[in-house]
Amino acid sequence: MQRVSEKRWFVCLLAIVGIIGASLFVVSLIQTPNNSFLCSLTNYSQNDNNPTSFQQLNTILHYATSSITPQQSFSEITVTLDVLKSLNRPCNFLIFGLGIDSLMWNSFNPRGTTLFLEEDPSWFQKVMKNAPQLNAHAVKYRTQLREADALLSSYRSEPFCSPARAAPLRSNERCKLALNNLPDEVYEKEWDLIMIDAPKGYFAEAPGRMAAIFSAAVMGRNRKGSGVTHVFLHDVDRKVEKVYAEEFLCRKNLVKGVGRLWHFEIPSKVNSTRHGDDDDRFC
Ligand SMILES: C[S@@+](CC[C@H](N)C(=O)[O-])C[C@H]1O[C@@H](n2cnc3c(N)ncnc32)[C@H](O)[C@@H]1O
Repeated sequence: MQRVSEKRWFVCLLAIVGIIGASLFVVSLIQTPNNSFLCSLTNYSQNDNNPTSFQQLNTILHYATSSITPQQSFSEITVTLDVLKSLNRPCNFLIFGLGIDSLMWNSFNPRGTTLFLEEDPSWFQKVMKNAPQLNAHAVKYRTQLREADALLSSYRSEPFCSPARAAPLRSNERCKLALNNLPDEVYEKEWDLIMIDAPKGYFAEAPGRMAAIFSAAVMGRNRKGSGVTHVFLHDVDRKVEKVYAEEFLCRKNLVKGVGRLWHFEIPSKVNSTRHGDDDDRFC
């Protein structure tokens, strides 16, 4: 009798060991270098020297534990994210302004270049203290919001504000709308995406977004590489953003409008089939 129960116990043990062994075998088959199926059974990260994945984890942790959310809505942010997904490669992403959203944009473009330009020195310090991994520069603008109307009605009389002569921006002292004092990296790269959600444009002494909009149009038109420049402009419910977008980014290039965000695709003049009047007019 005791022998029979010992035998049963032994068979049960064998069955349990067999099930565990089979399970481990199946898991090892499912697991690939990119698919850490059971983190408790494997090293946590297959890319131990890849800081990108850790930065993304830190970004998730940041937003998961913060009660402050970006100013753009879910559907507005999705417009840009969809473009990044469709390009499906590391991109050059230039962003006017540091904000609550900066860590998010940075992590949306892993292995790409995401560069932020911020006008407010104390806000720059504050953001960079908490997120030193961001590639950001403090910049100065030559304009004020109160000049927006005058600049719009006079820019045509300055030859260096014409589409033909506005580039290169770096040496364009004459046209006040040309951003000529940005870090070298801005001029040395071709930007696939440009987000204009700054500088501040809600009081008379603020820089306003006139020069950012003008300069984004010039960068897009002068792109040498293939493809268009995606320009995203926020706060288009405001007069200056709307009027400057229509003047320099052009209705014909507007591909999407969601909430207070407009998305333009700026073709480069190199790939343009039209000649002549392209040099006189932005739109
Ligand atoms: C409209 S905000 C950009 C906001 C950003 N898109 C976001 O979601 O946080 C434009 C500018 O306002 C300023 N700014 C934004 N948030 C701020 C804050 N919490 N305190 C002080 N200045 C701020 C910065 O100069 C920034 O470049």
